[in-house]
Amino acid sequence: MAETYDLVVIGSGPGGYVGAIRAAQLGLKTAVVEKDPTFGGTCLNVGCIPSKALLDSSEHYSVARHELAAHGVIAKGVDLDLATMLNRKDKVVLDNTNGISFLFKKNKITPFRGKGRLRSPTEIEITAPDGGQDVIKTRNVMLATGSVANELPFMRFDGRTIISSTEALTLSTVPRKMVVVGAGAIGLELGSVWMRLGADVTVIEYGNKIAGVMDAGLSDRLFRILQKQGMKFILGAKTTGAEIKKSVAVVQFETLKDGAKNSIEADVVLVAVGRKPYSDGLGLEQLGIVKDARGVVQVNDHYQVRTTSNSVLPNVFAIGDLIPGPMLAHKAEEEGVAAAEIMAGHAGHVNYETVPSVIYTWPEFAAVGATEEQLKQNNIKYKSGTFPFSANGRARAAAQTDGMVKVLADATTDRLLGVHIVGPRASDLIHEAVAIMEFRGSAEDMARSFHAHPTFSEALREAALGVDGRTRQM
Ligand code: NAI
Repeated sequence: MAETYDLVVIGSGPGGYVGAIRAAQLGLKTAVVEKDPTFGGTCLNVGCIPSKALLDSSEHYSVARHELAAHGVIAKGVDLDLATMLNRKDKVVLDNTNGISFLFKKNKITPFRGKGRLRSPTEIEITAPDGGQDVIKTRNVMLATGSVANELPFMRFDGRTIISSTEALTLSTVPRKMVVVGAGAIGLELGSVWMRLGADVTVIEYGNKIAGVMDAGLSDRLFRILQKQGMKFILGAKTTGAEIKKSVAVVQFETLKDGAKNSIEADVVLVAVGRKPYSDGLGLEQLGIVKDARGVVQVNDHYQVRTTSNSVLPNVFAIGDLIPGPMLAHKAEEEGVAAAEIMAGHAGHVNYETVPSVIYTWPEFAAVGATEEQLKQNNIKYKSGTFPFSANGRARAAAQTDGMVKVLADATTDRLLGVHIVGPRASDLIHEAVAIMEFRGSAEDMARSFHAHPTFSEALREAALGVDGRTRQM
């Protein structure tokens, strides 16, 4: 008789593979179904990891060309070998995806290659790449199929001139002119990569600020830094179409305040206007599982999917980009862990107040908790402290003085409510704030904790001291 799994996870991205490992650690007999040839989903194959490999490589190139001389390092004839840069990125991806295969073996997780679909709440139909079908039985299901890039209906992806983030990781030549539609995380990160490698990059953004819902003051700071680096911006404008003439795109846009129509040429147009859940073809409709108009799967506090009959399927869980909340790998991971713990009879839980957000430009932009705008909107009385990296000794020594830290704390209790950093290594620095907020700590806790001297992290301590008016400004 075919065996019955305790858990079948559909999708092996950060949410799925981390959830599967947690389930296996808790003694559940676990299988993972993945449609792609390698594990790791968008993040490892065509997202977080390859983009960071290119961000690091392109930053080295930019530093060698523009910054080393100031350190007295004369690098003559600095040149770009794009093929090597792309190969290195591919190798980084391969090492990471192989790492997941290793982790599956180590944790005795059974992998299945194919597209998974719910035939019933306890049966998963798997369609292999060659079309062959199989059905496996399971006590629990975790839907972790992630998301796909939004397409603009008037500017369909063609994979060459109008591209998504996936193709932006594999361009074999540096575009002369690149237009990026959308100044969110993807637009700013991949726009930075190609700008550093020599492209003339213009970002068209619908909103009046860059970096989405990040703190407005710090977004403006990053905006000015990126402009200084050479990135051009057209804010408050919506793209309305693109015409391709001899492989050059003419992108049409309209300024929102006066309706003025304009256009701009580009060899490559990167459309980065958000992502939508990948919830099609999973067989959700037949089981009455509720999705909203965007395809977002609805779940209860335990990640159990809601059904049209106003109840839940207790053994079908959904996590990550498929369900509401920010589309972030680390949010999916924590939900995968929590769902696995809940189905194993433990008390899984995710603290959504401390999900960090990072945009990996240079300097980086990292944040946790509330922005000033959110606190004002919710009538929460707060105090703020700020500190610029230009006054931080280590930042001066490293010639990394662009950016600042903002610490927001409750006006009465001093509880840390939000921390926002534009600066060197902000992606790593933010986790001090995450940990303090996890323990419901205060700005005073941050200010009184040791910070080794000289480090970038002292800028956080100074900003925390600033909440009480005690910053030691130089
Ligand atoms: P996003 O939602 O962060 O930003 C899209 C931007 O496009 C918005 O600012 C929006 O106003 C603008 N936009 C939409 N339609 C437009 C139009 N017609 N013309 C001009 N502007 C327009 O989406 P993004 O950057 O594509 O990222 C997708 C998802 O992936 C997000 O949830 C993001 O958080 C996640 N992600 C996270 C990363 C990170 O944490 N570092 C890196 C990459 C992606």
